[in-house]
Amino acid sequence: MAEQRTLGGPSVVVRSGSAEATRSLAAHVAEVARAGDVVALRGDLGAGKTQFAKGFARGLGVSAVVNSPSFTLMAEYRGRLPLFHLDLYRIAGAADALAGGLLDERQQSGVTVIEWAERLDGPVGGSDLEVRFEGSGDEVRRIALLARTDRGRPYVEAAQAWLELAERP
Ligand SMILES: Nc1ncnc2c1ncn2[C@@H]1O[C@H](COP(=O)(O)OP(=O)(O)OP(=O)(O)O)[C@@H](O)[C@H]1O
Ligand SMILES: [Mg+2]
Repeated sequence: MAEQRTLGGPSVVVRSGSAEATRSLAAHVAEVARAGDVVALRGDLGAGKTQFAKGFARGLGVSAVVNSPSFTLMAEYRGRLPLFHLDLYRIAGAADALAGGLLDERQQSGVTVIEWAERLDGPVGGSDLEVRFEGSGDEVRRIALLARTDRGRPYVEAAQAWLELAERP
């Protein structure tokens, strides 16, 4: 399939049958997060990106409730590392984001998780880990984690370990 050809780098595909399973996966992979990492979440409306962000926050030890930051563009949470949660749904293009100073040096101190990261495609589309969601409603989600840089590799390994745990009878 065309999708396979464009992947490159280590990747893993997970199937998630519930929002909690998606949060659990995200919490598990967040344990390997390092300051400066950028995680891009891609997928349609209602695919599970915010559920993933909630679980990721849990894995970073964030105690605050994480919701979609649609109206603020970026929300910051305190955890083991600072978490910067962005939702670019309303952003027209990379130029807007850059003009607004969305990605700045402060984010080097923490982990940046971006919903609708494809809005940044082009000049500044750099993420370390890309997470692609397919499915919506009651459907089982197909979640592909792709390492885009060496920083992304530990996340893929953590997702593989999570899968092995989940599949154990
Ligand atoms: N396996 C699953 N993983 C994640 N969410 C699921 C799953 N099964 C059902 N859901 C439900 O699907 C919805 C996913 O919503 P969520 O806000 O995470 O989507 P989103 O990708 O962030 O959408 P948006 O683009 O609007 O921000 C939730 O209501 C959740 O309970
Ligand atoms: Mg969302």
